[in-house]
Amino acid sequence: MQPETVLITAPQEPLMVSDRSLFEISDDEFSHIRKTLLFHRGFKLDAYKDRCVRRRIAIRIRANHCESAQDYCNLLVSDKTEIDRLLKVLTIHVSQFFRNLSTFEKLREKIIPQIFATARQTGKKRLRFWSLGCSSGEEPYSLALILAEHFAKELEEIPVTIDATDVDTSIIQTAEKALYNHDRLIETPINYISRYFIEENHQYRLSPTITKMVSFRIGEMFNSLIYDECDLLLCRNVLIYFAREQQEQVLADIARVVNKDGFLVLGKSETLLGQSRSHFQTICPLERIYSPVKSFQTPTDVQEV
Ligand SMILES: C[S@@+](CC[C@H](N)C(=O)[O-])C[C@H]1O[C@@H](n2cnc3c(N)ncnc32)[C@H](O)[C@@H]1O
Repeated sequence: MQPETVLITAPQEPLMVSDRSLFEISDDEFSHIRKTLLFHRGFKLDAYKDRCVRRRIAIRIRANHCESAQDYCNLLVSDKTEIDRLLKVLTIHVSQFFRNLSTFEKLREKIIPQIFATARQTGKKRLRFWSLGCSSGEEPYSLALILAEHFAKELEEIPVTIDATDVDTSIIQTAEKALYNHDRLIETPINYISRYFIEENHQYRLSPTITKMVSFRIGEMFNSLIYDECDLLLCRNVLIYFAREQQEQVLADIARVVNKDGFLVLGKSETLLGQSRSHFQTICPLERIYSPVKSFQTPTDVQEV
C-alpha cells in the first residue's frame, strides 16, 4: 500500500509517566504514535477501541523503561524495531488449531458439504476459503486439515484455494514456518495430530501436505479486502478489538466479497452490526455462521434456529 505522506516529529511538552496514570497519553503523543504506525506500517490505530489501545501502549512504555510517554515517542522515531513490537502488542495474536471445536465440527458436517453440493449443482470449477486475521495460521490450517482428511474426493473434482491474511508481517512469517507449541493444539482431535504433525524438539511441525494448501499474505482489512468471490470467509476474534464504526465498515466490505451461496463465520463473541444485518441471515447462531440474504435457499440440514 502507499503510505499517507505525513511529517512525523516527536510531540512537545513531555509529561512524566510517574506523574499520571499510564493510560493518560496526551493527544499529541497519541497522534504521534498513530501517525507513526500509519506511515511505517499502514496500520490504522483509530479503528481500535481507545481504552484497549492506550493500555497496550502503556505496556510498551513500561517495557522500555521510558520515563515519559514523550520518551516513548522519541524511541519510536529512533528505533524502528519498536514499531513492530508495539504492533505485536496492539494486534493480539491468540489462536489455536480448531479454536471453538464445535464451530469446525459444524463446518465439517454441514457447511462445507453444502458448499461442495452447491458448487456441483452450479458447475463451479474452484472454491475460495479465506481466513481474515489469520494470526499464526492455526485457523486456515484447521480448514486445510478438515479438507484433507474428509473431502479428498471432492477436492479432486473442485479444488479449494485457502487464503489467509493478517496485518502483522512477523505473524505471517510464523504462520509460514508452521511450527507450534503444544498449547496451540489442545483442541485438536488426536487423529489430526498423529497423522499431520511431527514432533520436533518439544514442538509440533505441520506436514507440508497441509501447509502447501494455504497461501498467506500480509493484508490490512481497512484498506478494502484483497480477495473477492469467497465461498467461506472466517473473520473470527478480530472485530472484537475494533470500535463499532470500524466493525460495521469491515462487515460491509465482507458482505461484498462473500458469494451469494457462501458463508461467513464470526468469533463466538462477535455478531452482525449495522447494515450487515440486512445483508446476512443467521444460519447457526451458536457458531456465528451467516449467509448472504438474497439468494440463500435455506438447506434443511443446515438450519438450526
Ligand atoms: C486474536 S487473533 C485471531 C486469530 C484467529 N482468527 C482466531 O480466531 O484464532 C486476531 C488477529 O487479527 C489480526 N488483525 C488485527 N487487526 C487487523 C487488521 N486491521 N487487518 C488484518 N488483520 C488484523 C491480528 O494481527 C491478529 O493476528
